[in-house]
Amino acid sequence: MAKIITFGIQKGGSSKTTTSGIVAHLLSENHRVLAVDMDSQGNLTELLTQRDIYDFHKQTVFEALQVQDARPYIHAINDRLHILPAEDHIARFASWLYSPSTAYKGNKSLVLMETLEPVLDNYDYIIIDTPPALGEQTLNALAAADIVVAMFEASKFCYSALSRFLETCVHIQELVNREMQVAGILRCMIDVRRTDNKALIELVEEEYAELCFKTVITRTAATGRLSINGFNDNPELKQAVAQYREFVEELIARV
Ligand SMILES: Nc1ncnc2c1ncn2[C@@H]1O[C@H](COP(=O)(O)OP(=O)(O)OP(=O)(O)O)[C@@H](O)[C@H]1O
Ligand SMILES: [Mg+2]
Repeated sequence: MAKIITFGIQKGGSSKTTTSGIVAHLLSENHRVLAVDMDSQGNLTELLTQRDIYDFHKQTVFEALQVQDARPYIHAINDRLHILPAEDHIARFASWLYSPSTAYKGNKSLVLMETLEPVLDNYDYIIIDTPPALGEQTLNALAAADIVVAMFEASKFCYSALSRFLETCVHIQELVNREMQVAGILRCMIDVRRTDNKALIELVEEEYAELCFKTVITRTAATGRLSINGFNDNPELKQAVAQYREFVEELIARV
């Protein structure tokens, strides 16, 4: 049965999508992986498929959520890596969920979990990317997870977001998914030349010592260019994903 891993933080631009994409890619070297895009920006969809997100119009995670069945909307990227894609319309998830005409009458945080249930045996890992907000899309992604990774990009705004994100995880544990665990905080996008970046990662280490992954991801041009070059025929792929191999080892040891 698949282990479901959700990457989240409500602060925008904190490498959620880049990390989800790289982790899905690396795990798919040896495992069957489903990537799930819960963000209306569709960045994970674009990163992994290198296609226009509107190619997937009406064939996305939003349609899957409305029938609580992922199966008809899964697209194969290759034999071992599949995606449940997103485009803008997933932004209407909350209004669909709260509309009186919606047939779904179950727990509003468990729609995604129910949607993934029919495919759990088809994968070893399901990787969920979330939007930069604590709305219904993120709550569903946390409620569906076995494991949550909190992303910490070295900035003051991200530091301010972290405690509320971790509190939200506790609420989800208490209210809907007792099995979910926060595997840790991934400190990322560190600019090694900046002393304020160093100070922030140390501050997070002091405050959340037991939660921090040992691996710290620095800002590198090759990783930044993955959105342009993708994972196929990318001459700098090895360099772009190198730091994440260590992180994946640590993550799997915690799963
Ligand atoms: N390790 C890295 N080195 C260099 N650039 C990076 C790295 N990680 C992410 N980036 C770049 O930083 C930007 C933000 O990353 P990304 O889109 O993954 O963040 P996000 O948290 O998913 O953003 P959003 O909150 O908008 O969904 C992107 O342009 C991405 O290419
Ligand atoms: Mg993103």
